[in-house]
Amino acid sequence: MSRIAYVNGRYVRHAEAAVHIEDRGYQFADGVYEVCEIWRGKVVDERRHLDRLERSLRELSIAMPMSRAALAQVMREVIHRNRVQSGIVYLQVTRGVARRDHVFPPAGTRPALVITSRAVRPEVGDKAAEAGVGVITVPENRWDRVDIKSVGLLPNVLVKQKAKEAGAKEAWFVDADGFVTEGGSTNAWIITTDNTLVTRPAEHGILAGITRRVVLDMIEREGLSFDERPFTVEEAKNAKEAFITAATTLVMPVVKVDDAVIGNGHPGSFASELRSKFHEVSELEPV
Ligand code: PDD
Repeated sequence: MSRIAYVNGRYVRHAEAAVHIEDRGYQFADGVYEVCEIWRGKVVDERRHLDRLERSLRELSIAMPMSRAALAQVMREVIHRNRVQSGIVYLQVTRGVARRDHVFPPAGTRPALVITSRAVRPEVGDKAAEAGVGVITVPENRWDRVDIKSVGLLPNVLVKQKAKEAGAKEAWFVDADGFVTEGGSTNAWIITTDNTLVTRPAEHGILAGITRRVVLDMIEREGLSFDERPFTVEEAKNAKEAFITAATTLVMPVVKVDDAVIGNGHPGSFASELRSKFHEVSELEPV
């Protein structure tokens, strides 16, 4: 069965799916995206992902490419056509196609919409979570609007590659004051030796992760001790546990930060518990 993508109004074979060379996403990274997990045939936290998509678009003065209801329907069609039960759905909206000019294109230029979906075997993530992953730390060098889920991901690409070359899964950006902001494609968490979960507030310097939000809801539900504040690399290295969150990784235990082993070098019980209970708390929408 061949994969199918949605590109500007058409369902096309993935191998042949293409956008115009003057799509502003291609030329200027002038666009935004979302990634939702698909779990057991359900879209995970669709409402919040679409809320964030709308917000990102609003912040950049890009119109929604279609109504939210229509978007949700196209997303489902793509998932169906690819027969994905477990995996991800990717949505990308750019400011559209126009002659290259930095300023916004003429009024009436239609935003461009691409939606893809692919299967991911849950065992792969679960296996990684059993062993835990390593992170490296790198200087924060991104613009200060990382709250917008923009497709402009060059700094993220470079640090993720650096992490890979170092044998790690993620790179944590560290701000000028020594505090961790977030990972190249995940939010960052630690658990202190007095069992307090710590993550940076989502007001500034990070993307307000949807997985992060669900974990905060879980923490509340379970009555766990929690502190929404920045933490330093030093604190992370001395933490009882650490983990990262994203729609693609869920809750993924971190067992190494640079050369420092976290806890006993194995995934901690908090992170493992949060991972196993995640889908009890997230919103699950039928496809
Ligand atoms: N990344 N921070 C950054 C920089 C991200 O790119 C992501 C998600 C997150 C976590 O957000 P959420 O929990 O809503 O997935 C935090 C997606 C998955 C990606 O780029 O593939």
